Amino acid sequence: MKHIILDTDPGIDDSLAILLALASPEISLEGLSIVHGNCSLAQATTNALSILELANATHIPVAVGCELPLVQPSLLAPETHGNTGLGYAKLSEPRTQPTRRHGCDFLIERIMSAPDEVTLVAIGPLTNIALAIRQEPRIVNALNELIIMGGAIRYEGNTTALAEFNTYADPHAAHIVYHAGIPTTLVPLDVTYQCVLTQRDVDRLLRLDSPLTRFIADATRFYMEFHDAYQGVQGCVINDPLALALTFAPELCDYQELPVDVDISGGVSLGKTIGDFYNYNKKPANMKVALGVRPRDFIEMFLERMEKLAQKTTQ
Ligand code: BDR
Ligand code: CA
Repeated sequence: MKHIILDTDPGIDDSLAILLALASPEISLEGLSIVHGNCSLAQATTNALSILELANATHIPVAVGCELPLVQPSLLAPETHGNTGLGYAKLSEPRTQPTRRHGCDFLIERIMSAPDEVTLVAIGPLTNIALAIRQEPRIVNALNELIIMGGAIRYEGNTTALAEFNTYADPHAAHIVYHAGIPTTLVPLDVTYQCVLTQRDVDRLLRLDSPLTRFIADATRFYMEFHDAYQGVQGCVINDPLALALTFAPELCDYQELPVDVDISGGVSLGKTIGDFYNYNKKPANMKVALGVRPRDFIEMFLERMEKLAQKTTQ
């Protein structure tokens, strides 16, 4: 059983990743550390608690991390995720509270108390993880694995022409994390943009009338409108659940070991992730990059698990 911590900025697709983690018997979700990103830190925390309540999982600890990027000014994404971060979904105010531990302290404690056991899945800007590395560098060797949803290697950006949101929102944090020496898998837009949840998929879920399926429908309706208006995509790309799925189904993707860097030089390519395919810089690979994916296998798995979770939580 893999022990998972999700570092997250919920966020529509983040909330789907949390639900997928709860629906997956192969893994044990040990906690959430919250970071700024799709919405403010306070809103993201409320969202995380409400989603756990929706899925009857309030026993999972939520630790509040960093409100701002390391160097850059704050960048939120209301056009993508709506003003509350959850599109048109309206969840009730959570009845639970986050832990008193800061998100970085929570990460350090959990990783150091179970060396080689924790798989950290980062699906927001990398601020919490960069600071945790600076605070306690031994987490680098104590982590089992780090899976990062972020970057665009051979793919166009979704925030600038070149840069992906999580990387662009805190490129300096990404720079620290990419070069820290942690066994890392990168899940960039190259693969996540193949994973489109369609209205038909959502209609299939709605055949089960439950708070969980209605939540998914209301949240993704907003996300689909964004994808249509900004990118001409019919449906919505569910980036973060793919990164989570790779913890228990790595065969969904094909990978290449690569030296990967992120541009922090401050020009038009700020936040661009660069894969050195021909090793011009003569550097060793610092991560495994997912560059191929079987999207329908993933979407089918996602739908089946959401159906099971919806049934379980309405019983
Ligand atoms: C990433 O940015 C956010 O909008 C999503 O939640 C995802 O983590 C995709 O670029
Ligand atoms: Ca996210």
